[in-house]
Amino acid sequence: MRVNIGVDVGGTKIAAGAVDDNGEILALVRKPTPASSSDAVADTIGECVKELAGSYDVEAIGIGAAGFVDRERTTVVFAPNLAWRNEPLAEKVSQATGHRVVVENDANAAAWGEFKYGAASEHSSAVVVTVGTGIGGGIIVDGALLRGAGGFAGEIGHIVVNPGGQRCGCGVLGCWEAQASGTALVRIARQLAADSPVYGARMLKLAGDREITGLDVTRAAQADDPAALECFAEIAEWIGIGMATLSAAIDPDVFVLAGGVSESGDLLAVPARASFEKSLTAKEFRPAPLVKIATLGNNAGIIGAADLARR
Ligand code: BGC
Ligand code: NA
Ligand code: ZN
Repeated sequence: MRVNIGVDVGGTKIAAGAVDDNGEILALVRKPTPASSSDAVADTIGECVKELAGSYDVEAIGIGAAGFVDRERTTVVFAPNLAWRNEPLAEKVSQATGHRVVVENDANAAAWGEFKYGAASEHSSAVVVTVGTGIGGGIIVDGALLRGAGGFAGEIGHIVVNPGGQRCGCGVLGCWEAQASGTALVRIARQLAADSPVYGARMLKLAGDREITGLDVTRAAQADDPAALECFAEIAEWIGIGMATLSAAIDPDVFVLAGGVSESGDLLAVPARASFEKSLTAKEFRPAPLVKIATLGNNAGIIGAADLARR
């Protein structure tokens, strides 16, 4: 059977799937992302592909990578939160596997998956915001993925929402991802618990003898802990402001919140919508874009990368 292989390269794990022409994942392989070197990452991607390729007729491989990917879709020129610098990922993986390889930005891949098969499938213009270690974006206007001159359109994690604010991995102060990513959520929670162990007690208890994680914040917020809800409220406020800014520039009919933090659902979406509506321009005179939660979960990047690699 003919498939495309979609690969999602994250900071902790690499997930690869054999995807058919209907966007169905037929088989899945997961391996930890090696921290040692970029060559080791390319090798591990190659191993995942080989494990899947044996059982199918492979048309091409699509890789979603968390960084700035060039317009030729071959090289990760820069990754704010990973070690890639001018990394010729397509060449390395294609040499290792013998297949044609297309590299996409991870969030572009997830956005394309949600647009074709998920939360944005009934819309023609969508902005997908992936909230995880960083913030990524995929912008679809009138059915087409926006790429820009260098291929770097959709790097919305680096819109400055808070001039002089938190330092971003890219070096700039106050980027959206420095204020509102999963990393920011954890930073806010740890600071809160350090300032007031009494107020942060519930999150501290969940963490036990390790540091507070994003999951601890989510669990505490699900149990209505006011401190954890306050942490969500803070990132949601920034998320709303960023979406309002993007609305003014792009005018999508839907925003889709995706990525690990979006799995908290309404904990994030409800306050983010409230903040968005507060900052949205001309709201009395036009329909507000919808704010939805992604529906493909972890698989969006695999499905989208596979589809984007098709001819
Ligand atoms: C990177 C993007 C990536 C996003 C999510 C950002 O820091 O600049 O390329 O899409 O994180 O992984
Ligand atoms: Na992107
Ligand atoms: Zn930045």
